[in-house]
Amino acid sequence: MEEKSLPKHIGIIMDGNGRWAKKRGLPRTAGHKAGAKAFREIIKHCHERKIRYLTVYAFSTENWKRPKEEVDAIMKLLGEYLDEAFQHEEENKEVCVKIIGNVKPLALELQEKIRRLEEQTAENRGITVNIALNYGGRDELVHGVKTLVQQIKDGELSVEDLDEERISRSLYTAGQPDPDLIIRPSGELRLSNFLIWQAAYSEFVFMDVLWPDFGAKELDQALEQYAGRSRRFGDVTAK
Ligand code: IPE
Ligand code: IPE
Ligand code: MG
Repeated sequence: MEEKSLPKHIGIIMDGNGRWAKKRGLPRTAGHKAGAKAFREIIKHCHERKIRYLTVYAFSTENWKRPKEEVDAIMKLLGEYLDEAFQHEEENKEVCVKIIGNVKPLALELQEKIRRLEEQTAENRGITVNIALNYGGRDELVHGVKTLVQQIKDGELSVEDLDEERISRSLYTAGQPDPDLIIRPSGELRLSNFLIWQAAYSEFVFMDVLWPDFGAKELDQALEQYAGRSRRFGDVTAK
């Protein structure tokens, strides 16, 4: 695919694990396990297709409402991924991992795994993978606004200097391009508090497949749809 018609940054709402498990008569946790496998694979597929940024929605600020056993199982799977990525440094040397979201309420052990992997992969330049964990777009904005207000109080920033760029830079995705494409499998047609500021001009692709069944073929279908879109950003001609 031509470079120009390729998104620089893709966001994926990894949804449908529960339904995938239900269809097979399995517990929801089995769906999350299968979803974690699909997540590992999609990083490779995106990297091979020269996507520079991938943001995956793994756990939202709203997902704490789920039964404790389910939350624990998801956190355990995330911990396993972080361990594995840390141990297989060679295989992952093109991947820079960042956790976006409020990590403070997470178990200290998980926070330590996050810190360790982020540090280990910080210089990797192939693809940046943001894992949205205890992430909410509104929560992210509150966090960003608090930082900016504090800077104003401290006299480091004036109210007049506040602009869109400053707000973007106060978010977890500071310094990264906005997502060009947001993919949501599972058939749901909503954003569920994902990247609400950054998605202002994203293209959306909603797909009927459940996340654990999402692979290279589905990614290519989404990329093809994206390539056919005319992105005008308010202008009359495509950019
Ligand atoms: C997405 O799959 C995973 C998380 C939200 C953590 P779901 O668990 O939401 O799957 P469905 O929507 O119930 O099928
Ligand atoms: C969105 O999926 C969050 C993640 C995929 C992590 P949900 O399944 O939680 O979203 P809703 O509840 O259907 O909006
Ligand atoms: Mg869901």
